[in-house]
Amino acid sequence: MQFKTFVFDAYGTLFDVHAAVRRHADTLGPDGQRLSELWRTKQLEYSWVRTMMGSYTDFWRLTEEALDFALAVMPQIDPSCRDTLLEAYWRLDCYPEVPEVLARLRDRGARTAILSNGSSDMIAAAVDSAGIGDLFDAVLSVDAVKIFKTAPEVYQMVTDTFDIQPAEVSFQSSNRWDIAGAHRFGFHTVWINRAGLPNEYLNYGPASEVSDLTAL
Ligand code: LAC
Repeated sequence: MQFKTFVFDAYGTLFDVHAAVRRHADTLGPDGQRLSELWRTKQLEYSWVRTMMGSYTDFWRLTEEALDFALAVMPQIDPSCRDTLLEAYWRLDCYPEVPEVLARLRDRGARTAILSNGSSDMIAAAVDSAGIGDLFDAVLSVDAVKIFKTAPEVYQMVTDTFDIQPAEVSFQSSNRWDIAGAHRFGFHTVWINRAGLPNEYLNYGPASEVSDLTAL
């Protein structure tokens, strides 16, 4: 099937979330990578726990709380890097293939959108700094529904926005748990397995697995 609507997760799929830490690798020392992974893991855990508790706080706040936890776990890292690391989150690099892939999809008449847990201003800043703002028909933040992925209400923002059925959407994410939620909602799912991880959530997609977005 030729899809007309391509929807992308933001962090890890379009934007490199570990870039912020890599940029400051020299200051952070040998535990920088571990800090980055714990920061991301906690940020996501907070989003799921808050969704289950029915207590939404925007993703920026969760990003701050997650970094504070990671820094507290690793006292060997100078805590004065906190603000610099957080600030870098607003200027994330996009993966190198992203602009060309988006332009190609649009050239062939498809429409493109972002669907992200990120707060509206965080995603707007990342899109802006990567210079890819003109390549999207819609940028959808969970701010509008005040609940995080993998709640079906989040994926429904896409079908509501474009007035289409779930099966008409090709959804791309590097996060396997996000692919599971999107599959459950009825999207065609493409797992962008950048890290070469083993499969999980076995009964919930993906329709296909690729190592980056070039194959779209
Ligand atoms: C997002 C996170 C989950 O952009 O990567 O929604």
